[in-house]
Order: sequence, then structure tokens, then C-alpha cells
Amino acid sequence: MDPIANPYSPGAGTPPPYLAGRVDLDEAFDVLLGRAELGRPVQPIVLSGLRGVGKTVLLLRWLSRAAQRGWAAAHLEVRVGADLREQLVDATIDILRDISRRYRNAERVQRLRRVATSFARAAGAKVARAGLTFEVDPESGVADSGSLESDLTELLVVLGEAAAEEGSGAVIFIDELQDAGADELGAVVGACHRINQEQLPALIVGAGLPTVGKVLSDARSYAERLYDIRAVGPLDDEAQRLAVTEPARELGVEYDDEALDRLATLAGGYPFFVQTHAKHAWDRAVESPISGLDVEVGATQAEIALRTSFFSPRVERATPAERRYMRAMAALGDDAVSTSEVAAALGKEPSATSVQRDGLLAKGLVYAPERGQIAFTVPHMSEFLRSLPGDA
Ligand SMILES: Nc1ncnc2c1ncn2[C@@H]1O[C@H](COP(=O)(O)OP(=O)(O)O)[C@@H](O)[C@H]1O
Ligand SMILES: [Mg+2]
Repeated sequence: MDPIANPYSPGAGTPPPYLAGRVDLDEAFDVLLGRAELGRPVQPIVLSGLRGVGKTVLLLRWLSRAAQRGWAAAHLEVRVGADLREQLVDATIDILRDISRRYRNAERVQRLRRVATSFARAAGAKVARAGLTFEVDPESGVADSGSLESDLTELLVVLGEAAAEEGSGAVIFIDELQDAGADELGAVVGACHRINQEQLPALIVGAGLPTVGKVLSDARSYAERLYDIRAVGPLDDEAQRLAVTEPARELGVEYDDEALDRLATLAGGYPFFVQTHAKHAWDRAVESPISGLDVEVGATQAEIALRTSFFSPRVERATPAERRYMRAMAALGDDAVSTSEVAAALGKEPSATSVQRDGLLAKGLVYAPERGQIAFTVPHMSEFLRSLPGDA
């Protein structure tokens, strides 16, 4: 098929041509906004799942859904080593841009700008930019204490009050929450808690790796009750089928059953793999319907693409000792394995391997589903590692 017309979208946060199987989550998000608008108590959603399951595309879709509903909305992705407060300043700039255009109460908008400027000023580095953007003097004594928790709370309260008056709301989406420092995360959770108590429509909705629930409750013990933590998993058979067939159908292209069965086996419902395999099957096929053989031939290319763009760059982030640790994990199975078994397989005491384990945790390559257990954050990583030659 014509590669130029290829509809599939393997990537990170790249919106799929057809977003399959997430109706429940979309509904939960709509209920969340609806309740917040009415001033009812809410549990903001936090998405939790492996890499490539489609968390980011959901957050981005919700960003436009919120905007269509008249909400002010912004998105940020936590980066290790970056200052979350500065990133929140950027998000606030986006939110204010939305609000300035829409809100009727000019005085409230002006107050919000002053408070946002105070918040930015306490972040230091961004003062110039924020000052230029907001063109107002800061509101001294509000949101400028330097404590992220109380400043963010004050900012969100003013934001929520202004939004409530307009019958609307404001939402900041925070992706890769697990990468925030414990203090920063505690501040975010604490601020959300206060906003929730006041029942104001200013929300923080997030996403992170499968440990995100635990990371949040380590930051504040009540976090698990505060948020609605939703696991995002692989697509079921029907959803995977639709993810493949719908984008093609719109272009007059079909798949035969064998092709769909093979795609299901190859991708295992993981959206990133679905997009990758479907893309290559499309490129190989010469006519509709796309056949099992097309999928098989495409899979060779797809696997090369996955190795070079998805698996290898991640493995290369690990040190040689960490890589040995990962390969020992992979040799033990596809699911979570016990850290003491990994140590035993390496011929070491568990304590002697904790440096590698902690290094891999910090790099986001593995996570601990339970105490004493370890698993890869990337689906099919075990298979990939087992396929490597002995000394790689
Ligand atoms: N529900 C879905 N249906 C079809 N494709 C999807 C779906 N969700 C995500 N994708 C595709 O999967 C890939 C990974 O999505 P992304 O949101 O970056 O995952 P994550 O943030 O969980 O790592 C992208 O190529 C995206 O187009
Ligand atoms: Mg993501």
C-alpha cells in the first residue's frame, strides 16, 4: 500500500488515527469535569501503566476535550532534574492565556495574573519571562512564600475561584509523575488535597509508570484515597482489531482474518506495537485485503524498527553491570521476578546487587510491582533481551 497514505502512528504521545478501547476512561474523565463544575467532591484521575500503552495520548486527548468544554488547560511532562515549579509556571502561562480570552470578570483575571506572577517570581529563573507575559506586578504575600505546597495551593485556589465563577474549570495535566522528586510530589498532592476540600474546579490530572500510585502515597499517605488511580493496560482483542482496521477502512483498505490474528499475536494488544506492526504490514502489502503473509513479511521490518528505536536505546542507558542485571531478570521469565532470584542467578547476595537495581529503577527501566519483586517498565523487554547474543 502507498506508504504516503499509511495511517498508523508509532511514536511517543503521537495521537493514533483511531484511539481504541478507552471509552471507560473517557467517561470517567467527563464525569470528573462535570462534578468539578458543580462543586461536588472529586477524585482526580491518575493513569498508571507500562511504557507505550497510551497514557500520554489520553492526557493529550483530554486536554482538548477539556478545552472544548470551555476549561482552561495545560500539559507538562516531569523531567528528571528539572524544576517542577518552573514547569508549573509555564503551565500557568498557558492557562492564563486561555482565561484572559474567555473570562468575563476582568478584575478576577487581573488578580489571577498578579498571583501567577508572584508564583513565578518565587521560582526565580522565570521572572523575566513571566513578568513579560503577565505584564502585571506580583501580588505580594500570596503564592510567593517559596514553599511549593502553599504557593501552589494559593495559586490553585485563586484559579479555582475564578473558574467557578465562570461555571467552568482549570486543569493541569502532569505526565511522568513518577519522575518528580518526593518533595515536589508531596507539594502537588498536598495542594490537590486542599483544593478538593474547598471543592473548587482546579484539577491536576496525571499519568505515570505502574508504580505511580505507590510513589504518590509514599509522598502523602492519603494520596491513594485522594486520586482515582486507573490502570491503563493492553487493548483487548476487539479494541486491537479496531485500532488496526478503522484507520484502514477509512482509506478503503481491509484486512483478512489471518492478518488480524497474526497482528494480535505479534502486538499482544500493546498500542505502540499495534501501531508499529500495522504500519509495516501496510507498507509491505500490495493489495487489499492485507493478508497474514503481508503481516509476517512486515514483522521483520517492524522488529528491526522496534529494536533500534524502542528497545536498544533503553538498554544502552544502562551500565554494563545494570545490563547484566536486566539479562538475569529476562532469563527468569516474562513477568515480575524476585530480586533475590536475580541476585542468585548472578551468583551474588541480594545486597550486592542493590546498586544495579536502584540504578535501573532511577532510569525508569524497571519498577517494583511489590516488595522484593522487579519487572520491566517496557512490555516485551524480556523477550528482546533473551534474543541478544551472549556478550551484548
Ligand atoms: N488506545 C489506542 N489505540 C490505538 N493506538 C494507541 C492507543 N493509545 C496509544 N496508541 C499509540 O501507542 C503509542 C504509544 O502511546 P503513548 O501515549 O506515547 O504511550 P505511553 O504514554 O503510555 O508511553 C503511540 O504510537 C500511540 O499512537
Ligand atoms: Mg507517555
